[in-house]
This record gives sequence, structure tokens and C-alpha cells, in this order.
Amino acid sequence: MSTFDTIIRGGRVATAGAVVQCDIGIRDGRIAALADSLEGAANVIDAEGRTVTPGGVDGHCHIDQPNEEGWVCADDFFSGTRSALAGGTTTVMPFAQQFRGRSLRAAVDEYRTRAEGNALVDYAVHMILSDPSEQVLGQELPALIRDGYTSFKIYMTYDDLKLNDRQILDVLALARREAAMVMVHAENADCITWLTDRLEEAGKIAPMYHATSRPGPVEREATHRAITLSELLDVPILLVHVSAREAVDEIQRARSRGLKIFAETCPQYLFLTEDDLDKPGFEGAKCICSPPPRDKANQQVIWDGLRGGTFDVLSSDHAPTRFDDDKGKKVRGTDSSFRWVPNGVPGLETRMPLLFSEGVGKGVIDLERFVALTATNQAKIYGIYPQKGTIAVGSDADIVIWDDERETTITNDILHHDVDYTPYEGMKIKGWPAITLSRGDVVWADGEVRADRGRGAFIPCALSTAATPLGRPVAKI
Ligand code: URP
Ligand code: ZN
Ligand code: ZN
Repeated sequence: MSTFDTIIRGGRVATAGAVVQCDIGIRDGRIAALADSLEGAANVIDAEGRTVTPGGVDGHCHIDQPNEEGWVCADDFFSGTRSALAGGTTTVMPFAQQFRGRSLRAAVDEYRTRAEGNALVDYAVHMILSDPSEQVLGQELPALIRDGYTSFKIYMTYDDLKLNDRQILDVLALARREAAMVMVHAENADCITWLTDRLEEAGKIAPMYHATSRPGPVEREATHRAITLSELLDVPILLVHVSAREAVDEIQRARSRGLKIFAETCPQYLFLTEDDLDKPGFEGAKCICSPPPRDKANQQVIWDGLRGGTFDVLSSDHAPTRFDDDKGKKVRGTDSSFRWVPNGVPGLETRMPLLFSEGVGKGVIDLERFVALTATNQAKIYGIYPQKGTIAVGSDADIVIWDDERETTITNDILHHDVDYTPYEGMKIKGWPAITLSRGDVVWADGEVRADRGRGAFIPCALSTAATPLGRPVAKI
């Protein structure tokens, strides 16, 4: 009998703490040994001269998420996780969305049935809390947290999702008691609708005006308010999809005062600008997301924040709506206002290769930071570390062996999602996963998906120390 099922030989193995050349021994789906030289496996994968990283954890993506607005999420768990693994992501964390007036528990149970039997890689589930009623906060949420759903997202914008400040305080008080992680979409809803009304009155309805309707200060105000509410009750929060210099300033100021504020950004704020919304005809709708891509100067601020430590995680915010489809971006036709265009861009598959190429390859960040942003910090913040997010003895053997030199022109037809476009069409990058392993199984190799439908498992999340309060609330109650 062999000592290991698989040995990955001679790679440049990166964790968030170090890069070392070593062999990785895998047994029963887990990493069983790390050493200069290992022997005794039926299956040996040669990784000489290649970078080896933990499989990515995408802590913010939307997969098979229902909505009541007439458009559909183009990816289900099968196509979403197929796309994830082809781009080196081995754990996805999408959202079970509560609809107002309905049970959160029912939303989670229903969402789990969507994943069951379909996912190709492992998944954990966040919740979207849109109706923090007494029943939800008093009973459902505490029980769900104990069942392994320890993080949830709240919105300060979107009419059907947004919470007012009093509701946010109720939610934060609950999060403090239960030590759950609160993710916040920070944009000022009233500013956006006021600006949108004015733009529409002036006939400015093309996709490019989406960016005009929510400039940086709109994100700053909500970011500042979220931080203030968090400080009041002493509850760590994670600000998702940060895009603007003004929001970065607020986060840095809060941190400099010792507050426990986490921050996420996404590839769309590193690689797209508002000019991408200003394409001929309706094309710009492909890049409508909220917050919007901004100008080059803001883009540089986001890169600086990635390098300098402002950002803890880089997630995709994969929001798959097809473009050429009346159940997608064109749900209200191509002459309708930007107001009605479903928000979000696809990006599960391109998240890691883009950062590997343009971040690590161009010397902006080192490999350790790449691993921290795409895997380790995500796993730590959401309570699935060290099972996920690292290469260590005992961890799941979720591993990416990179083809460091492979040059790729991104086109939608090489991707594995069910969306009919990528916002990164035509971009030339260097480096792509050659082999992806999930719990020791090769699920991607030689440009082929090799995973069986349904092999992906649900991963319950533990409470994370990231969500532990500092112990000094401003509100003495
Ligand atoms: O535009 C975006 N980000 N759409 C997805 C939903 C969300 O707010 O994350
Ligand atoms: Zn959001
Ligand atoms: Zn999102």
C-alpha cells in the first residue's frame, strides 16, 4: 500500500506566510505531509518550476440566486463551480437571499437544495438579510449561525434589500451577541435614487450614467455610516466591493483609530473603468455593477490598497446575468434606463488568473499576498480555516498548480460559466491554473474539467475570531 494517494513534486509552494520548494503528500483528500522529498504514491504530479498555491476561496459570489425582478441568474451550482475550478477556485461562498416578509431559514433550506447534487467543488453559504424581524433576529438567525451559517450580508441600497440605520443597529447588536460576521454593501440609497431621477429627467439613461448616479461620495457616506454604527456597538464589519478613493480613506481612518474593519475589493475595480460603461449602444450594460467601476485614479487607489494592506480579500462578486437575453441585462429592452439593468459582472473564473498575472506577474504584490487575498484571509474571516485556504498538514488538499508561463487572451469562449460575455474580453494575461485539485481529486487538467456533478460538499462555517468585538463599545447600554 502506498503512503500517499498523490504526491505533488518539486513545486514552488506558496502560503500566505512563505514560499518554499517542497513536495506535498496527499492522503484521503487531505494534505498528509510537506517535505523536501517524499516517496510512495501511486500518482505523482510533476510541479517542477511551477507555482503551487492553495485553491482559491471566493468569499463573495452569486450563484443560482433567485430574484423577483424577472431576470435570471445565469449560473447554477454546476456551471458556477465548473467555472470556479477552471480558474483555480475550490471553495465558493454564495448567498441564500431572504425575501422581505419571508423566513430566513426557509431561504437557506431552499438554497441548499439548489446546491445539493450539483456543485463540482465545495461551498459554504452566506445569507442576505433583508427583513430583520423579531422572529428572524430572535430565533432564526441565532439557530442558523449555530448550524454553520456564520456570516451574512446587509445592504444600504436597493429598494428591496436596504435596511435603515435602526435596522442595521438591530442586526449589529445580534451579530455582537453571536459573534457573526456582517458584510456590508455601502452605498447611500437616497442619493442614488435622487441622482437617478434627475438623470432620467434630463434623458440621461444610457449605461454610462449608471456611474454618474453613484459617485464616490455616495460610497463614502455609507461607508462612514456603516463604520460609525459598527463603532457604536463595537461590532467588526466587512465592507464588500470597495471601489472608491473616498471609501478607502474612511476605512484607513477607521483602522488608524483601532477599529476592526475588514475590506474587500473585486477585479472589476482593478481592471475596468467608467469608460467601459460608455461603449456604443447598450454594450456598456455588460459592465454595470454597483458600486460602479470608476476612473483611472480610483483604480490606482484600489491597486495601492491591495498592495498596502487596506484590502483583506479579493472576491469576484460574480453576478452572472446574460447580456443578449431578455431574462438578462436586456430584461427591459435596450432603450430602458440604466436603473433597470441587473447589476453585476461575471468573474469567478478570471479572479485568480487576473491577479496572478497583473498583480504577481507584474511585481505589484508578492505571492504570499496573492494567497492571503484570494484564499487564506477569506477562509479565516469566514470561519473555514485551516480546512480551507492554506497548504498545511491536515488541510483539505485544495491546490492549484500554475502554468506560470501560459499566455492567454481572455475570450468568453474559453470560460466555463453560462454567461454570454466576459468584461475582460481580449485581455492578454500570463499564468493560468494547469491543474486544480479539490480534496485531492484532480478536477481541472489539460484544459478539461474532470469533476463529477455533485462531488462538491457543503462546508459549515465556524465562528471566526475576525468577528470578535474589541470590547470597547461607544454606546454604554
Ligand atoms: O453590482 C453588483 N455588485 N451586483 C451584485 C449584487 C451585489 O450587490 O453584490
Ligand atoms: Zn453588494
Ligand atoms: Zn455581490
